[in-house]
Amino acid sequence: MDIRRYDGKTVLVTGAGYGIGRAIALRFTREGARVGVLDVDLETAGETVGLIASAGGVAHAVRADVSKSEEVKKAVDEVASTLGPIDVLVNNAGIRYVRKVLEMTDEEWNKTIAINLTGMFYLTKAVAPQMLARGGGKIVNVGSMSGLIGQLGRAAYGASKGGVLQLTRSLAVELGPTINVNAIAPGYIAGTAMMREVDKDTKNVEWMVASTLARRAGTPEDVAGAAAFLASDDASFITGATLLVDGGFSAARFRA
Ligand SMILES: NC(=O)c1ccc[n+]([C@@H]2O[C@H](COP(=O)([O-])OP(=O)(O)OC[C@H]3O[C@@H](n4cnc5c(N)ncnc54)[C@H](O)[C@@H]3O)[C@@H](O)[C@H]2O)c1
Repeated sequence: MDIRRYDGKTVLVTGAGYGIGRAIALRFTREGARVGVLDVDLETAGETVGLIASAGGVAHAVRADVSKSEEVKKAVDEVASTLGPIDVLVNNAGIRYVRKVLEMTDEEWNKTIAINLTGMFYLTKAVAPQMLARGGGKIVNVGSMSGLIGQLGRAAYGASKGGVLQLTRSLAVELGPTINVNAIAPGYIAGTAMMREVDKDTKNVEWMVASTLARRAGTPEDVAGAAAFLASDDASFITGATLLVDGGFSAARFRA
């Protein structure tokens, strides 16, 4: 990898203690950025920072629950004062309960919306004013294919992710042309904590891979590459968009 689109830039990645967020953090540091590694779990955030440091990058771990407005504000201030004003925000933190609506508790529903959707609202409110004042910035929101199609047991998750895609469009309208705001909708990305149980279900994995035009599961690095593209000047004419990173899963109903 020899592209370095982020020399001298500060990037804040939420949920960067594990999985896709960690891969995104690593990717941006490889391209020269200093990265704020925000996670509700400070220990795993520290591990991400350790991986970045051993690869020669610069990062800072900060703990915050994205669904708590005050924690978010403090964390954003800490990252900006440690690493410099934030040029790129990647809203990636998320949770998922696989539960049919009639079996889902109020708490599970509210927590899903609070972390996956309201968290992005809090982060944007904390970061965007600085970007507007400095005359530029990029926001990348990690949605999901589940925000575009109906799936069993994904009502809360899918509603939160559908909300993320719509929030992205609204933010692109309100914050443009100074800030580009885009979303990524990943399909099945193996090897993350969220997919731990799914990855073990060999039959389901075989079906998902067979239904994917790329004939493989996605990797956190696949999503990281899309995030690094959307936040770069290569994507300066792209805003309010949703980039599917699903190996073609949702493009095809029948392929025979
Ligand atoms: N893995 C997939 O197949 C897949 C597919 C589509 C979308 N996504 C989305 O990608 C994002 C990352 O998912 P992942 O698979 O890497 O999951 P993961 O569980 O491996 O990582 C999520 C990270 O977010 C952190 N987090 C959870 N709640 C938080 C909170 N309240 N505040 C701050 N941090 C919090 C966790 O501690 C964890 O480090 C999520 O938004 C998820 O919905 C994942």
